[in-house]
Amino acid sequence: MKNDIKEILFTEEQLADKVAELGARITADYRGKNPLVVSVLKGSYVFMADLTRKIDTACNVDFMVVSSYGQGTKTSGEVQIIKDIGQKIEGRDLIIVEDILDSGVTLSYLMKVLQARGANSIRLCTLLSKPERHRVEVPIDYLGFEIPDEFVVGYGLDYAEKYRNLPYIGILKPEVYGG
Ligand code: IMP
Ligand code: MG
Repeated sequence: MKNDIKEILFTEEQLADKVAELGARITADYRGKNPLVVSVLKGSYVFMADLTRKIDTACNVDFMVVSSYGQGTKTSGEVQIIKDIGQKIEGRDLIIVEDILDSGVTLSYLMKVLQARGANSIRLCTLLSKPERHRVEVPIDYLGFEIPDEFVVGYGLDYAEKYRNLPYIGILKPEVYGG
């Protein structure tokens, strides 16, 4: 697995420091508000587990599975909700936790859907963002790192469902995906 990595972008220590920083900011912003922290699976599962343990105030957690593709392979801009949040979100303060903001298409649609259900507030926390790839404007409230337009894996992020269990984030060697 390690042999498929060209370069380590963020080490375990760098990730832990950043997650602690984001957790501290969320703690300060949401004290006494009991936010609902929603992880968009699967890519954010590691980040979610680490982040929520750095939120030092009461909160609830929930999970969603979404797919940005309909039946075909082209991005429709429509999000299919495969697994929904298991509770009412009316009046709640939501924090959406994502692994990476790429085109932004999935998230922008998802935020609209959740807003329409009457959430009191919705903020986005994403570990990574690829600014060069953004196609729609999605405001990021809590950002880990901006990265260049390279395919990264590890710390929850996959290529063909592999590498999610790497404890760091690295750039995949192009030959691995036939580049
Ligand atoms: P988008 O912002 O709607 O284009 O979708 C972002 C999703 O694409 C993320 O949640 C990831 O699952 C996936 N993705 C985008 N870039 C990468 C990458 O570099 N490595 C792994 N997954 C990625
Ligand atoms: Mg993925």
